[in-house]
Amino acid sequence: MDSKPGPAGDWTEGSPEVPLAEFLRAREAVRKEGIIAPHVFGTLPSPEEVAAQSAARPVLATEAALVGAALALGADGFGDLTASEARLAASAKAQPAALVADLRARILAGDDPLGETFCALRSAEVRRERGAVYTPAAIVRAMVEWAATIGTPERVVDPGAGSGRFLVEAGRRFAVANLVAVETDPLAALTTRAHLSAAGLATRAVVMLDDFRSARFEKIQGRTLYLGNPPYVRHHLIGPEWKEWLKHEAAARGLKASTLAGLHVYFFLAIARFAKAGDYGALITAAEWLDVNYGQLVRSLFLDRLGGQAVYVIEPDAQPFPGTQSTAAVTSFKVNGVPPSARFARIDRLTDLDHLAGGRPVRRERLLAEPRWSHFTRKHQEIPVGYVELGELCRVHRGQVTGANKIWIAGPHSEGLPEEFLFPTVTKARELIRAGETLADPAALRRVIDLPTELDVVSGKKRDAVQAFLRRAEEMGGKDSYIATHRKAWWAVGLKKPAPVLATYMARRPPAFVLNEASARHINIAHGLYPREPLTSKALVGLVRYLRSSATTKGGRVYAGGLTKFEPREMERIPVPDLATLADLGA
Ligand SMILES: C[S@@+](CC[C@H](N)C(=O)[O-])C[C@H]1O[C@@H](n2cnc3c(N)ncnc32)[C@H](O)[C@@H]1O
Repeated sequence: MDSKPGPAGDWTEGSPEVPLAEFLRAREAVRKEGIIAPHVFGTLPSPEEVAAQSAARPVLATEAALVGAALALGADGFGDLTASEARLAASAKAQPAALVADLRARILAGDDPLGETFCALRSAEVRRERGAVYTPAAIVRAMVEWAATIGTPERVVDPGAGSGRFLVEAGRRFAVANLVAVETDPLAALTTRAHLSAAGLATRAVVMLDDFRSARFEKIQGRTLYLGNPPYVRHHLIGPEWKEWLKHEAAARGLKASTLAGLHVYFFLAIARFAKAGDYGALITAAEWLDVNYGQLVRSLFLDRLGGQAVYVIEPDAQPFPGTQSTAAVTSFKVNGVPPSARFARIDRLTDLDHLAGGRPVRRERLLAEPRWSHFTRKHQEIPVGYVELGELCRVHRGQVTGANKIWIAGPHSEGLPEEFLFPTVTKARELIRAGETLADPAALRRVIDLPTELDVVSGKKRDAVQAFLRRAEEMGGKDSYIATHRKAWWAVGLKKPAPVLATYMARRPPAFVLNEASARHINIAHGLYPREPLTSKALVGLVRYLRSSATTKGGRVYAGGLTKFEPREMERIPVPDLATLADLGA
């Protein structure tokens, strides 16, 4: 068969019974799966309305009909079709001019009828294998608008273009940008071609039927904008040779990759490979990468190579991936910018997406230090002007767990142990509460035994004393506690270095913040505040004064009986004045 559609063949106008029934079934499936979400395409019509519309507006009931419509809209009017697209074109069912005109009008009005049809015709299972869940229009628009706030690209690349929603929207927004779609599915590629063509954008568009990971792009002078929704495909559907590719390409950038990574992680890495300074982009993906181990590669790329700007997490109720109940993350980046902070926000409704503006700034150091990021997107109290979250200035760490205080806090059972293994340590909350603003005297504290992991470094009499203690500790059960069995060496408690500020975190009162002039260690009855960058002594004193005067139980978790507990992350959210004000307070 000719690759061009012939005269009207598969046309259903006038005999809508069978196709209408099929359409209604597809539409019902769509409704159930939520592929066409009401908030995106308006309220879903009732079956009666669909019937009425269908009589007036004929439908594409098969893939061959979709291909026929795509060709009639100009899918083969630019660039050469690849062999697999040409094969599909050969099976096209021709569509009548009235339908084609209707589709064209809808495309010109901003709809994506070909993409909608694709999603209605292909079952969710088949689309899932290729990660083909198309993006709601509100998200596409917000991402394109964000891109416009950053600048004007010379080229827009859509990785995994589907029906070309991103590319068409970007083509309309950026009047002279070249448009590049990359897609592996020939049917989707044909719909992208048709979409671009009907929207009048074909003259500056290229559609590549290619795997985005290995696609090659022409080098250009100006900026490339990467915009899209990379496919969500789980690792067990990804071939071993691609897993090798991921490890190899990550290693080439000094990064580690997990073979458990989903396909979207590969796309982030591929963009990091292609992109040059000045390029920018926004991708919508599953939000998992923010927290899971395999997401570390994306988090590292975000912080360095990609120049991450913001992450907007979209709640499943807003249906960012229609029909999937998944949480999405829209990630924006400006390549090679290493901004001092990135913005994080959580969106409940797509109408709140705006153009991805706003959100809470989180410092880069904090992001570098944290293995999980989604908590940064959670709602938090308004921070007054001139204030920052404590976590912007200090990391908060819980003290070390000994596993058995009766063994690891020095006492008669440890007599004879060399002094160098005994560390003055805050072991009771009341030691901090009583200390007032400053903990000055280490001698008043009990001492925790912290032995080196390698005992070979200890010799002579000291070694004998250590061995004698270890025998007693073993008799007391010190070797068998859960904590001890999970340490590098069961005898090495591993105290953290002294924190300049210590705080209680569980009491029927606000936390007691104390300046640690005694350089005391702390066990897990206290939190340590470790400045992210060195703070002057005035700023430290100011910080403690401020926290002591203002701390409340607000922000912690209240347990029965009014006991309030602050987890380290909760303590990091306490608002404190900025550094200049703190230095004044400490003067
Ligand atoms: C999540 S869909 C997004 C489609 C469209 N960009 C949108 O947002 O509406 C991902 C698309 O990527 C395509 N795809 C899957 N694997 C790909 C690969 N390795 N390279 C390029 N495209 C791929 C799928 O066929 C699918 O159309």
